Order: sequence, then structure tokens, then C-alpha cells
Amino acid sequence: MRNIILTGFMGTGKSSVGKLLAEQLGFSYLDLDALIVADAGITINEIFARHGEPHFRSLETDTVRRIGDEERCVVSTGGGAVVSAENRRLLRQAGWVINLAATVEEICLRLRDDTDRPLLRDDRSGGRVAAMMAEREPFYADADLRIDTTGKSVEDVVAEIVRFLEARG
Ligand code: S3P
Repeated sequence: MRNIILTGFMGTGKSSVGKLLAEQLGFSYLDLDALIVADAGITINEIFARHGEPHFRSLETDTVRRIGDEERCVVSTGGGAVVSAENRRLLRQAGWVINLAATVEEICLRLRDDTDRPLLRDDRSGGRVAAMMAEREPFYADADLRIDTTGKSVEDVVAEIVRFLEARG
């Protein structure tokens, strides 16, 4: 079976859904941000602070390239990974692309105490989240399946993905 790539804005549940989905399918689980942190030996906040966002994006593309060698893997991507056309092409090649979404209100609620996301560190307002989401919407729309996770449990979302995969054989 093909790899499954989860895309979506920060706080849409890619990691929790990815872990449970991998467990249910008997696939391995890969978290691109975790790979970046493991390679760099510093946190994402530190990468942004010391080296800037462009450097982070280039590390991100390096990790996206690595998924091409994987099989039977569920991969969660960072929320901004789909902004690059090159990343989108590589992700599409690597497997099914499944986009997780949620309303602005839900994202704000889920991320209200978060300090690990440098792009929302100074401003986690609904306006900021809405503007970023709108800017990225065309990239999130480039997916085989989209699921609105608002008000759904991780188990519900995983079940929807499994139904999609079963229908595709
Ligand atoms: C980012 C999302 C983060 C992480 C980095 C940048 C983004 O990942 O890659 O902070 O640009 O949306 P999560 O979506 O897992 O929070």
C-alpha cells in the first residue's frame, strides 16, 4: 500500500491522527518536524531564531525528499511544508496526500497555550490564523482527500481515512 502523507495547518491533528493511523494500518510513522529537530539537534523555535525561516524551509525540503525512499509509512508534515511547489510535487509522488483542516476558532482553542510554533509565537489571534490559513488554502486543497476535523475525535478522523483507503483498494 502507498505511503500516506498528512498535510494541514498547525493544530489540525496531523501528529495524533498520524500515530493512530500508522498503528491501525501496521505502518511506520514519520514526523517531518521531529526528523528536522533530530538532525539539527535544536528545537524548531531555535532553528527559526538562530538561522531564520528560509533555513528551516530548506531543512524541511531535505526531509521531504527522504520520504521518497519510504514504503508503508504514515508521514505528518509541518503546516507550511505544502507552500513550496517542489515539496508538493515530492509529497504527491510519495503517496496519498490527505489534508486535515479545522475552523479558525478550533485551531485557536487547540493552540491557545502553545509556545512551540515560532510563526504564532507573537500573535495567535484569530485574525492571524485566518490570514495564514487563507494564504495557504490553495496548497492545502492540493490533496486526494480533505477532512474537517472540527468537533471530531482522533478515532473518527482515522476511521474516515481508513474508509477512503479501503475504497481505493
Ligand atoms: C509550521 C508548522 C509547524 C512547524 C513550523 C512551521 C508552519 O509544524 O513545521 O513551526 O509553517 O505552519 P506543525 O504544523 O506540526 O505545527
